[in-house]
Amino acid sequence: MSMNSFGHLFRVTTWGESHGPALGATVDGCPPGVAIDEGMIQHWLDKRKPGQNKFTTQRREADEVKIMSGVFEGQTTGTPVQLMIENTDQRSKDYGDIMDKFRPGHADITYWQKYGIRDYRGGGRSSARETAARVAAGGLAREAIKQIAPNVQIIGYMSQIGPHKIDRENFDWSQIEQNPFWTPDAQAAEDWAAYLDDLRKSGNSVGAVVEVVARGVPAGIGAPVYAKLDTDLAAAMMSINAVKGVEIGEGMAAAELTGDANADEIFMGQNGPQYSSNHAGGILGGISTGQDVVVRFAVKPTSSILTTRKTITKSGEETEIITKGRHDPCVGIRAVPVGEAMMACVILDHLLLHRGQIGENRGQIG
Ligand SMILES: Cc1cc2nc3c(=O)[nH]c(=O)nc-3n(C[C@H](O)[C@H](O)[C@H](O)COP(=O)(O)O)c2cc1C
Repeated sequence: MSMNSFGHLFRVTTWGESHGPALGATVDGCPPGVAIDEGMIQHWLDKRKPGQNKFTTQRREADEVKIMSGVFEGQTTGTPVQLMIENTDQRSKDYGDIMDKFRPGHADITYWQKYGIRDYRGGGRSSARETAARVAAGGLAREAIKQIAPNVQIIGYMSQIGPHKIDRENFDWSQIEQNPFWTPDAQAAEDWAAYLDDLRKSGNSVGAVVEVVARGVPAGIGAPVYAKLDTDLAAAMMSINAVKGVEIGEGMAAAELTGDANADEIFMGQNGPQYSSNHAGGILGGISTGQDVVVRFAVKPTSSILTTRKTITKSGEETEIITKGRHDPCVGIRAVPVGEAMMACVILDHLLLHRGQIGENRGQIG
């Protein structure tokens, strides 16, 4: 079964395992003439790279991307773009203990039950190393978007860590690049640093909420029933490792609102329709409104923690397991660039679908 691809026209297939020689993405359907080089993709991979600060895993990976095909003289040719990242930190002996034991919270047990064979080294295919390939594909998608909808900006940030939420009053876009949590609330970044430091020292971990916003998306992309823009975004975000919940706009909180509070009122602005608010998260009936497209996802706490946990072996014996060495107190931090990449791939995919079926929007207002 081929379940390693996503996207309709901008079709991304990822391949590789945590401790294989390399992993990557094969991107089919990228338009020709997109200016791209390895440095442009590397920029985004560096953001996801492990070991950048004490709040992320110390696995040392260069995460250097190589473009193997589909690019000639600095431009895409319209043929498949093969992006490859070599695994340079394959310390298999670190993982000897999990050959027979199933790590709680990991996919070891389900992969074994399903396939009857698994690459246990670092989680194999279920490892979030795979997300490096998505980030590489997302880097290419961003460059292609520039050609079709140059005003689009895709920005991800952390809005919550454990029980601690950002204060929306402190929201400042310019802060996002200034702290290790990619958060727009400078005060939250300070508080979270102390909180996470304590957790890290105690060997524990915590979950997080990541918000990804696409600004400048033109009205009209998406589809009304299947392949709604929100359907595809939800699937894309939910496919990221450790994601357990996805919301669009108001999300679950919409259930608490009344109709008059929730439905964004429409006004006529100088350049077209404007909305009083954005509870819809920039999507109505599966189609973009022209407002910010807002997606939020919950990342569960890191399962590999420095605490002894009960589990079983392949032969069904009860035992215990403990993660030695590397430990990431909050994988939500490294999920930020992954969420951005998925947003970029989905937005590009829908821009291409829209261009194919409609071209310029047909319905005029005013
Ligand atoms: C960027 C990123 C890095 C991750 N790193 C780790 C890690 O170091 N340790 C860990 O236990 N889980 C980590 N995870 C989560 C696991 O990959 C994931 O929980 C596991 O594969 C089981 O899949 P599921 O949680 O989606 O069901 C990471 C997730 C992401 C998005």
